[in-house]
Amino acid sequence: MDISIIGSGFVGLITALGFALKGHHVVCIDIDRSKVDMINRGCPPFFQQELEDALSGQVNGGGNLRASTNYDELLHSDMTFVCVNTSSDSGVNADSHPIETSSRTIGETLRRKPGYHLVAIKSSVTPGTTEHLVIPTLQKYSGKRAGEDLGIAVTPEFLQEGCSLHGLLNPDRIIIGQHDMASGDFVQHAYNGSQSPILRTDLKTAEMIKFASNAFLATKISFINEIGNLCKKLGIDTYEVAHGMGYDPRIGRLFLNAGIGFGGSCLPRDLDALIRKSEEMGEPSTVLNAVCQTNKAQVERMIQASKRIMGGLNGKAIAVLGLAFKPDTDDIRNAPSLQVIRQLLAHGARVVVYDPKAMPKLHEEVHEGISFADSAAQAIQQSDCVLIVTEWPEFKDEDLYSGKIVIDGRRALNPEKARGVCSHYEGVCW
Ligand code: UGA
Repeated sequence: MDISIIGSGFVGLITALGFALKGHHVVCIDIDRSKVDMINRGCPPFFQQELEDALSGQVNGGGNLRASTNYDELLHSDMTFVCVNTSSDSGVNADSHPIETSSRTIGETLRRKPGYHLVAIKSSVTPGTTEHLVIPTLQKYSGKRAGEDLGIAVTPEFLQEGCSLHGLLNPDRIIIGQHDMASGDFVQHAYNGSQSPILRTDLKTAEMIKFASNAFLATKISFINEIGNLCKKLGIDTYEVAHGMGYDPRIGRLFLNAGIGFGGSCLPRDLDALIRKSEEMGEPSTVLNAVCQTNKAQVERMIQASKRIMGGLNGKAIAVLGLAFKPDTDDIRNAPSLQVIRQLLAHGARVVVYDPKAMPKLHEEVHEGISFADSAAQAIQQSDCVLIVTEWPEFKDEDLYSGKIVIDGRRALNPEKARGVCSHYEGVCW
């Protein structure tokens, strides 16, 4: 099939790569010329080693993928996946505006395409968005009718940033929300050959599956963080507790790593959007509001611990190890590190940061009052106290921290070993 993808962020690019690897001809369309040029050179606009290799294989001679800034490219495709970013400027609120703009442009372009075309929404959108915003906009500007010459589907993405190629080609499940049977069949055809379970639903159910999944993952994390906060006071190892709980298949061990809490562009955004949607519908969520509250408080716990141990932070040199919201990415959107840095600066601390991949991203955001180290060892050496905020493998050597005060937000270090080496070691939840 010929597939066009609107938006070349993480979701757009991995969708494009997944379909290209299946043998479809894929064109990524993005208004950002620099992104398009990078993709055509085989460089993803974000860091991800394994995908980088696969991408260069697909864009170079004989590959199935290319990128363009020209929306007219979609006229030569059978179907279009919409993968635009739905975050607002603050990066927190699921904002449907980019969906509206792209639906309009797709519609205007499709007016010049005779015959059937399918549009599938892959961006995370609140339940009802496709029905109440995307379809009317597409119909208005294209002159086509949903269910007749316009196919409509919602097929959310569940991959994690930093996912492996194996994960990309073998997702846990494929959800296809369909406007009508023909639309669902068309999308399923594009996924042909996949061994993953496929669930066909209506449009708003597919939208809700994505939001509920991310909200549940966030809930698991805040739950274990609360248990962890209690365990710390009781002298119980929360990681052993998680290990014991995880044997129960109804619970599972994944997403029970206690610490400084979740960040990124997705969990906070989807949680926030679901909270707003439940309020709008007169069903305010007690659980989800508490999940947010607990998450915010974890950062505060790290700051309070450093204040307590250092006898105040004013004038103290604090190293922040890790800026990315998790390892194996250079993404700092809603990363706990940003909150940590802001709070440290507000308390008058001098902040020295190090991250193996995300330093250029912080340069773009905030830099006043922050110094950038060349290595973890240098950051540690220049500081009175070290805060571990992202569990990059290179931070996991206890000997790096000899004689230092360390607060670990991610269980990067083995507590027993670290206590033997550091002048003081404690975790956010242990
Ligand atoms: C998340 C979901 O996991 C994906 O399924 C979904 O497709 C994606 O959002 C999306 O909506 O596009 P991602 O944002 O890549 O994926 O990040 P996660 O791996 O879920 O991690 C989120 C945050 O939770 C990170 O800051 C991580 O450090 C934190 N975390 C994760 C914990 O604090 N504890 C854990 O046990 C697990």
